[in-house]
Amino acid sequence: MAERIEVMIPEEQVRLRIREMADEISRDYAGKELHLVCTLKGGVFFMCELAKHITVPVTMDFMCVSSYGNATKSSGVVKITKDLDEPIMSRDVLIVEDIIDSGNTLSYMIEMLEDRKPASLRLCTLLDKPERRRKQVSVDYTGFQIPDEFVVGYGLDYAQKYRNLPYVGIVRFE
Ligand code: IMP
Ligand code: MG
Repeated sequence: MAERIEVMIPEEQVRLRIREMADEISRDYAGKELHLVCTLKGGVFFMCELAKHITVPVTMDFMCVSSYGNATKSSGVVKITKDLDEPIMSRDVLIVEDIIDSGNTLSYMIEMLEDRKPASLRLCTLLDKPERRRKQVSVDYTGFQIPDEFVVGYGLDYAQKYRNLPYVGIVRFE
């Protein structure tokens, strides 16, 4: 099926918002060290941009939890395909996500990471689609709340494509 991409949030607006989030996070974690846990692959672009503007000392780790195949509907099945490299016990952990949709992936991940006894565990997401929520998750930092549209760019894909777009776009199927 042919698709075209329509700009939803332009590049400059995404960058400005991420800077604001980095400022807020830097203030909230003043005097602490922050351990960023990025969800692959979608969270990577957001985490890099965010981390560059955080002023407290930062370490990073990556985890791959997937609930989507190559479709635009959640399968509801969550699986860990790559776990963290380092323990998070007694660390101040911030999960960095691309988007929260049904909340399935996040609620599963949060439960699993809480079991490892971090000093604190918070959640930061670039995008939030609140209309689609099925599992309640408390989000500490949100970039943009968006309507129920399938979006790509800034790390988000459609069938593994479009992650490299520097803006957030809506997929339109012709
Ligand atoms: P959830 O478990 O339903 O909250 O889905 C979370 C994951 O689904 C995200 O981390 C994305 O990888 C993927 N996802 C959800 N909505 C979209 C979208 O609009 N575009 C691309 N990927 C999405
Ligand atoms: Mg994701």
